[in-house]
Amino acid sequence: MYQTKPVAPERLPAFLRSLPKAELHIHIEGSLEPELIFALAARNGLTLPHASVEDLRQAYAFHDLQSFLDIYYAGASVLLFEQDFYDMARAYLQRAAADNVLHAEIFFDPQTHTARGVSIETVLNGLHRACQDARSDFGISASLILCFLRHLSEDDAFATLEQALPFRDKFIGIGLDSSELGHPPEKFARVFARCRELGFRLVAHAGEEGPPAYIWSALDVLHVERIDHGVQCVQDSALMQRLARERIPLTVCPLSNMKLRVYRQLSQHKLWQLLGAGIFATVNSDDPAYFGGYINDNFVQTFAATGLGAQHGLTLARNSFEASFMDEAEKRACLQRLEQAVEGFE
Ligand code: ADE
Ligand code: ZN
Repeated sequence: MYQTKPVAPERLPAFLRSLPKAELHIHIEGSLEPELIFALAARNGLTLPHASVEDLRQAYAFHDLQSFLDIYYAGASVLLFEQDFYDMARAYLQRAAADNVLHAEIFFDPQTHTARGVSIETVLNGLHRACQDARSDFGISASLILCFLRHLSEDDAFATLEQALPFRDKFIGIGLDSSELGHPPEKFARVFARCRELGFRLVAHAGEEGPPAYIWSALDVLHVERIDHGVQCVQDSALMQRLARERIPLTVCPLSNMKLRVYRQLSQHKLWQLLGAGIFATVNSDDPAYFGGYINDNFVQTFAATGLGAQHGLTLARNSFEASFMDEAEKRACLQRLEQAVEGFE
């Protein structure tokens, strides 16, 4: 079932693009394209520090995670009203559907907005309505994961959780993102324990820039079900063995890793090593408006740079559904569509 026919090298990009897939690591604020930043600024009567779309894009030269985050949070400041959040998520979902994404699990950063006086209700109503409409309009299912910003305090995360709980039917999980170094998972042990009691699905960024120890503590202290990024696990063979043995998904984002200088070149990416070690990896876009590519660009460019082949593509697409938080029937339906697409690929 999960064996591909041989795919000629020149047909590999088309094959990868054609694969039905799930996206499990996408920050919705990171899908905000410069054109939409300018359109929302105009609609909301805001003046931007950049003269034009091109001028803003020019500023997208990052040397590490923090240099990106500073620009990313500034970009999100044009989001004020429910319709702004709706328009941003709708644009992403339409674009993802064009990449044959059947299902997306979307991160959002409420503290970025509540700190500016935008209510969590405004954020969630806009994002959630876009997810609902995308099912009928673009044939893509989507759910939301609320991320705590790890550079802020655990008390701030608790306050955010309290604000969000009246709308808990609108999001399925909790994540942890923002500046990793110096903010280990342990800092959020109590709030994650509470989220676990409440029945949320749990994920955390760990081992993007941070050490393998952060991956261990995301698993053993926060009890997350997936690790976002996790590429630094290659420094720790015991950890790699554990990830493989326990089938813990990693949501890997190759173009992000290159743009934030985790690797100097895409050819140095460790995706092949992860797959070779039997690790349950997936490929995702992270912040596509900032890193120069959506999910299919991540697949195509990484495969071209590292020499991965069609069978790896199929494994990654299959992993994306299996690692998702869809129920078993939904997973089966997606896996069937994957099988049909592979059989039908000429
Ligand atoms: N927020 C948006 N993108 C992120 C990333 N790559 N790492 C941590 N936090 C983020
Ligand atoms: Zn991320």
